[in-house]
Amino acid sequence: MSDFLKLTDSLSLWFSTLRPYIDAELQKACANLKQDVPARLLESMSYSLLAPGKRLRPLLVCIAAPTVKGENLTLELLQEATPAALAVEMIHAYSLIHDDLPAMDDDDFRRGRPTNHKQFDEATAILAGDALQTFSFEILGKLGEISSRRAVRAFRILSRAAGSPGMVGGQMDDIQFTPNALRPVLPLTLYGCFPSISEALETEELRRFGASSWKPELRALESMQDRKTGALITASVMLGGVVGGATEEQLFRLGLYGQYLGLMFQITDDLLDVTSTAEQMGKKVGKDDEKGKVTWVNHLGIDDSRRYVSRLAALAKGEVTVKAFSDPSLLVQLVDYVEQRTH
Ligand code: IPE
Ligand code: IPE
Ligand code: MG
Ligand code: MG
Ligand code: MG
Repeated sequence: MSDFLKLTDSLSLWFSTLRPYIDAELQKACANLKQDVPARLLESMSYSLLAPGKRLRPLLVCIAAPTVKGENLTLELLQEATPAALAVEMIHAYSLIHDDLPAMDDDDFRRGRPTNHKQFDEATAILAGDALQTFSFEILGKLGEISSRRAVRAFRILSRAAGSPGMVGGQMDDIQFTPNALRPVLPLTLYGCFPSISEALETEELRRFGASSWKPELRALESMQDRKTGALITASVMLGGVVGGATEEQLFRLGLYGQYLGLMFQITDDLLDVTSTAEQMGKKVGKDDEKGKVTWVNHLGIDDSRRYVSRLAALAKGEVTVKAFSDPSLLVQLVDYVEQRTH
């Protein structure tokens, strides 16, 4: 099989090659539903799913898979990674539709367009989110055609990351979170399905983050962000690992890498909410303070938040620049990309 992309190619070449591929595959997946889904529901699902997003999560899947193999991305491996790549983007699109609802963040713009409930109506937006969530798992099932063991692992990772211990739980925390009502920390247990990883991770997490040195409210904030954003980013990296046949050590390290990267991603989102513009972001800015959200930025300030992002960047890189990965350069470049992102 000829190489589609090389591990030594630049991250920007991977992005510019894979984004149109992912978009075309998402489009095909929606087109396949045409006979079976009410037209307005499919229109609403496609409206949000196909809207111009960065496609970071599917790209993480497509990068992690060849990286754990230490091989270039062949067309065959890309096809094997595609169900997981589409599945994470579908969960993400559903989470955005629901995040924007009047009962949640009540936002009018997303990806440079009116939000789903503004374009359609609230009931349709709720149903489109629900439908994308289940469609995600239907698509992920295609992984079973290659290996049922890998498919089961993938289902467990994605359902836990998307569900109440992960994204949905984080959204609940986000809603309840006020500076005066901080909850005790519940550790992210994305790895609950793998006891050996779970135990090691807890010890590692405590050592790395030095929980006792953090103010409890910062640890609680971190836990909320680990869940609402970090869980799906971690799952994306781990799913790529599972598709590529990662060793237990690689999977464990990818899990930590994903958590650091996920936290960096949400802190930079919070930073951009105060430093960027609506045109640049394709969504309203200044909304966290307006809605009284607790973020790193209003807790630590811009400079300390940036410093914390840099610290996380070093930790993320440290997990993958080890013997277990023969060429981690794309994972390293991804960390720089998230640290420096402008939208
Ligand atoms: C936005 O995610 C929501 C957060 C988790 C902060 P992205 O910034 O990845 O959004 P798109 O997919 O590019 O629109
Ligand atoms: C969103 O966090 C996290 C999700 C699970 C969707 P935000 O509420 O900060 O995301 P934006 O700023 O609306 O994209
Ligand atoms: Mg939100
Ligand atoms: Mg929001
Ligand atoms: Mg935000």
